[in-house]
Amino acid sequence: MTNRILLSSDHTAIDLRRVVADHLTAQGWEVDDIGPQTPESTHYPLHGRAAAEKVAAGEARFGLLFCGTGQGIMMAANKVPGIRCGTCGDVFSARMIRAHNDANMMALGARVVGEGLALEIVDAFLAQDFEGGRHATRVDMIEPGA
Ligand code: RB5
Repeated sequence: MTNRILLSSDHTAIDLRRVVADHLTAQGWEVDDIGPQTPESTHYPLHGRAAAEKVAAGEARFGLLFCGTGQGIMMAANKVPGIRCGTCGDVFSARMIRAHNDANMMALGARVVGEGLALEIVDAFLAQDFEGGRHATRVDMIEPGA
């Protein structure tokens, strides 16, 4: 399994995205930060979808998304088949979307969480394994047409 993590955001969350990227690089993760790199106003669905398509294609083990609230970019990512993305503003939820939902992406709101909490949320998400079992049955039922 690759240890690559893909990061993307809209314009509201470039600074938080870079803080998280540096944090993960220091931990030894291979970070693929696909931008945007400049602060002009942009559209979160474009970045959510582009990142989600790469994660769904197996280009990264996990994807982390950032926008103002974490909500819009999460909604866009979840339109891509095979993507399970939750928006988290707390450590418990970050752990549980891995443990019970086998999330392969997580979204954070740069206008919601500060840098310290964001890093704790990211660490909790990455440290938690999927528990499988009855949760696997339910996760399999999420995909349209299942
Ligand atoms: C941009 O102003 C803002 O709407 C976006 O970052 C995000 O919060 C949408 O869900």
